[in-house]
Amino acid sequence: MNARNQASSAAGDTKTWRGTAAVWDCNSERSLCFSRRELEWPMECTIRPALEDDAAHISAVIVRALRETNAKDYPNEVIERIVRGFSPDAVRQLIGQRTVFVATIRSRIVGTASLDGSVVRTVFVAPHVQARGIGKLLMAEIERTARERNIPSLTLSSSITAETFYAGLGFRAARDSYHGDERTIVMERLLDGSS
Ligand SMILES: CC(C)(COP(=O)(O)OP(=O)(O)OC[C@H]1O[C@@H](n2cnc3c(N)ncnc32)[C@H](O)[C@@H]1OP(=O)(O)O)[C@@H](O)C(=O)NCCC(=O)NCCS
Repeated sequence: MNARNQASSAAGDTKTWRGTAAVWDCNSERSLCFSRRELEWPMECTIRPALEDDAAHISAVIVRALRETNAKDYPNEVIERIVRGFSPDAVRQLIGQRTVFVATIRSRIVGTASLDGSVVRTVFVAPHVQARGIGKLLMAEIERTARERNIPSLTLSSSITAETFYAGLGFRAARDSYHGDERTIVMERLLDGSS
């Protein structure tokens, strides 16, 4: 755990849902697998700072979300280029450089988000548990951390996929940004209570 993560280690947040879960057909990524019984609701999700040992599991969540969720909005070459940037080793380095959080259900990592100065980065939720409020919980922890550090506003580069998600959290689109044929939307949110 790096110093920044240590500073907020007591700040875990939990939430319980009631609803119906789809059973996810898993194969190799054991960290993401739940048996039918384990997926019975309600479930408790915990947000905590990432540890170096989480790197492989975080990488697996990101890769799966990219290939199953973002793939609907971006060509395969773009997805695979981004996938290469989130290998377990690359994620391990990021954990040392940024404030990285993970969302866990029954101790298994199902989501991640990070704060790099005033920039929100790498927000991903595993496809089989999306649309259950986990992304919102992760962003609440990012916002809480930013406010604690007196950061006046947050910026991010949203995927096409997530623009509506961030807009729902009060982020406003400022401009488009292109990295080759990867379009992202630069978005901002003031933290002074005005948005
Ligand atoms: C974007 C993402 C992180 C959202 O996580 P999530 O756990 O599915 O989101 P939540 O369940 O917390 O949703 C919160 C709200 O946003 C809405 N929302 C979430 N994803 C959405 C989407 N793709 N399009 C439209 N609305 C969306 C939900 O309906 C919900 O609305 P409500 O509060 O009115 O009910 C997740 O879908 C994901 O991993 N996407 C792929 C990776 C990605 O693009 N990440 C962003 C990189 S910049």
